[in-house]
Amino acid sequence: MVFALIGTSILISANIDLSHLLNYASQPLPVYIEKDIMTLDNPITDEGATLGRVLFYDKRLSVTNEVSCSSCHKQALAFSDAAELSQGIGGLTKRHSMRLVNLRFGEDTLFRWDRQAKSLLEQMTFPIKEFDEMGFSGTNGAPDFEDLIFKLSNTHFYPTLFNTAFGDAEISEERIAKALAQFVMSIQSFDSKYDIGRAQVDSDSDPFPNFTAAENAGKALFLDSFICITDTVKIQIGQEEGSFEASKRVSGGLNCASCHRPPEFDIDPKSLNNGFTQGNPNAGIEDELGITRSPSLRDLYNPDGNLNGGIFHTGQGNSFTDIAAHYYFQPIKPNNTNLDPRLMPNDKPLWLNLSQQQRIQLDYFLQTLTGVDLYVNEKWSNPFDKYGDIQLIGSQISSSSDINDQGEKPNCYPNPVSDQLTIESEKPIEQLIIQAGNGKVLHESSPDVSMLTLNVNELPKGLFFVRLKSADSEVYDVVKMIKD
Ligand code: HEC
Ligand code: HEC
Repeated sequence: MVFALIGTSILISANIDLSHLLNYASQPLPVYIEKDIMTLDNPITDEGATLGRVLFYDKRLSVTNEVSCSSCHKQALAFSDAAELSQGIGGLTKRHSMRLVNLRFGEDTLFRWDRQAKSLLEQMTFPIKEFDEMGFSGTNGAPDFEDLIFKLSNTHFYPTLFNTAFGDAEISEERIAKALAQFVMSIQSFDSKYDIGRAQVDSDSDPFPNFTAAENAGKALFLDSFICITDTVKIQIGQEEGSFEASKRVSGGLNCASCHRPPEFDIDPKSLNNGFTQGNPNAGIEDELGITRSPSLRDLYNPDGNLNGGIFHTGQGNSFTDIAAHYYFQPIKPNNTNLDPRLMPNDKPLWLNLSQQQRIQLDYFLQTLTGVDLYVNEKWSNPFDKYGDIQLIGSQISSSSDINDQGEKPNCYPNPVSDQLTIESEKPIEQLIIQAGNGKVLHESSPDVSMLTLNVNELPKGLFFVRLKSADSEVYDVVKMIKD
C-alpha cells in the first residue's frame, strides 16, 4: 500500500548537510558529449559547487540585498528570465539574460552575447561589479568588492562553506568566482528526447528510433546543408513590398548545425552575427554588430511547451514563428559588415524558402532538446529559507580553526604522479575512491589499512580525485591529484 505516504507533510528545510553533499562532481555524462571547458585549475567539486549554489541564490551579493544571480537566471526557465530585459538594482540590463544550460559543454571560452567576458571566471564577478546590476562597483561612492567580502565574512554560514570548499575560511574574489563557476558549470541537461535517441545511434545523421517522422525530418533540416540558386524574393516589409536578389534554397537542409553544433548545440566560436543586429535605443545602442554568441539551443523550450523567456539578445522573440521568420529571409542591412558568410551564400542574403510543413518539423525537432531534471533537481534550486538564511548541518561543522588544526588530511604523493601513488591516512581507510576529473569512478576499494601504494600507470593524464573515508568518519576527505 502506498497510501500511508500520502498526506504526510513534507518538511522543506533550508539545510545544507555537509556530510551528504549533493552530487555535482560526478554527474553522469553521455558518451557522445566531448566538448568541455572545465579546466584543471577549477574542477567541479561537490564542496565548491555547494558554495557556488549558495552564492548564486544569495541576495547579499547585491548592495541592496535585493538581487541575486537567480533574480535574472531562474531555474524554472532554464536559468533565463521571462522579462525581455532583467531588473538589476539600478535599472534594466541592456540585453536579455542568457540561459545557463550545458554552458560547460562547448568550445567557446568567451562569454556574454558579444563575447566580451574573456573567461568564465571573469563573467562570474562581472554582474557583481556592475553599478546597475548588483552594485559592488566601487564607483560613484558605491561599495566595492572588499565590502562584499566583508559582508560575506560576517554571514554565519560562509566561513564554514569556504572552508569546506577551499580548505580554509578565507574569502576572496577569486574563490567567489571559482565557486560560482563550478555551480554554473554543473548545470547540465541530458535527459531530453534527443538524448534518449542519440544514445541509440552512432551519429546525429542516423534517424532516431524514438523520434516521430516529423521530428526526424526536422532534425535533418537542422543538420543538413543546402543548395541555392540566385533568385528574386518579394517580401512585405512594413507596408511596402520589397524585391531582393537572394540565394534561394532549392534543396537540402537549413545548415543550422554549422553554427549550433550537435550534440552539444553549442555555438561555433567562429560565428559572426546572424543578421539580428537590433540595438537598444534606451541604452544608447543603435546597432549591435558584435552579437556572435548564443547559449546552447538545448532547453530553448520549457517542458510546458513554451519558450524559456524571449529569444535573441533583445529577448523580443517570443515564439517559434519569430525564430523561423528571422532565418526565413532577412535583407542584408547596409551597415552590417559582420554578417556570417553562412547566411549570405554568394554574397546574397539567404532565402530559406521553408514550407509550412518544414517549419513545423523544425519546431518539433527543437522541442526534443528539452529535458526535465534541469527544472526540478534540488541541486540547482534555491537553498535559502524564507528568512534568507541557511542552516548548515553535518559532521564537518566545527569552527574553521579546528578543521585547520586537525591536520587530518590524508597524504597522497608524489603529486603530480606518474605510476606509484602512495596514500597515507591517520586511521585505516574504510573506503577509497579514485575519480577522473569528469567524475567517472576509476577505482573503488576498502583497503582497511592506513597506508597503501597503488599503481596508477593506466590512468589517463590530467586531474583526478582521491576520495577516502575512515571507519569512524562520516565524511570523505578529497585530495586533488595530477597524473603526469
Ligand atoms: C540583473 C540581471 C542579472 C544578474 C543579477 C546576473 N546576470 Fe548573468 N546575465 C545577465 C544578462 C543580461 C546576460 C547577458 C549579458 C550581455 O551579453 O550583455 C548575462 C550573462 C551571463 C552569463 C554568460 C552566459 C553565456 O553563455 O555567455 C553567465 C555565465 C552569467 N550571466 C552568470 C551570472 C552569475 C553567476 C550571476 C551572479 C553573480 C549573474 N549572472 C547575475 C543578467 C544577469
Ligand atoms: C552563422 C551562424 C548561425 C547559423 C547558420 C544559425 N544561427 Fe542561430 N544564432 C546564431 C547567433 C550568432 C545567435 C545569437 C543572435 C542574437 O541573439 O542576436 C543565434 C541565435 C539563435 C537562437 C536564439 C537563441 C537564444 O537563446 O535566444 C535560435 C533559436 C537560433 N539561433 C536558431 C537557429 C536555427 C533554427 C538556425 C537554422 C535555420 C540557425 N539558428 C542558424 C548563429 C547562427
